[in-house]
Amino acid sequence: MKRHFILTAGLFLLLLLSNCGTARRGVPMFDPVNLENQALAQGEKVYMSYCQMCHPGGTAGLGPAINNKPLPGFLIKYQVRHGIGMMPAFKEDAISDKELDNLVAYLRVLRKSKDKELM
Ligand code: HEC
Repeated sequence: MKRHFILTAGLFLLLLLSNCGTARRGVPMFDPVNLENQALAQGEKVYMSYCQMCHPGGTAGLGPAINNKPLPGFLIKYQVRHGIGMMPAFKEDAISDKELDNLVAYLRVLRKSKDKELM
């Protein structure tokens, strides 16, 4: 009889605990991930690895400034993939298509932050 009680109490407890679990399931455990910031962070990383040494912070160095004119995305991509003039080309084994997209987004931010400095 005592044994039966313990078993019932145990089952009741189990039911209670599992109920707690279902109630919590709808609550997100993590903050929603900010995809835009993630893309820009990757773009910055790529820029620092492959571009910064010749276009420091988007300004002129070994290469011309690229933060002072509204270069369209496809042109930047073409320049990076084919390397016009003195600039080396970067193929997909160095910079993937997705990384190149993020790099272009990062360059846009560089240009915007420069425009702000001028105001
Ligand atoms: C070894 C130095 C070097 C590196 C590294 C380099 N560039 Fe360049 N870049 C240049 C030079 C030099 C030019 C000018 C090319 C020419 O027209 O003769 C240039 C030109 C450009 C232009 C065209 C600018 C214009 O006014 O039309 C863009 C855009 C550009 N680079 C972006 C990048 C990006 C993005 C990266 C990184 C993936 C990068 N560059 C890495 C040297 C470099």
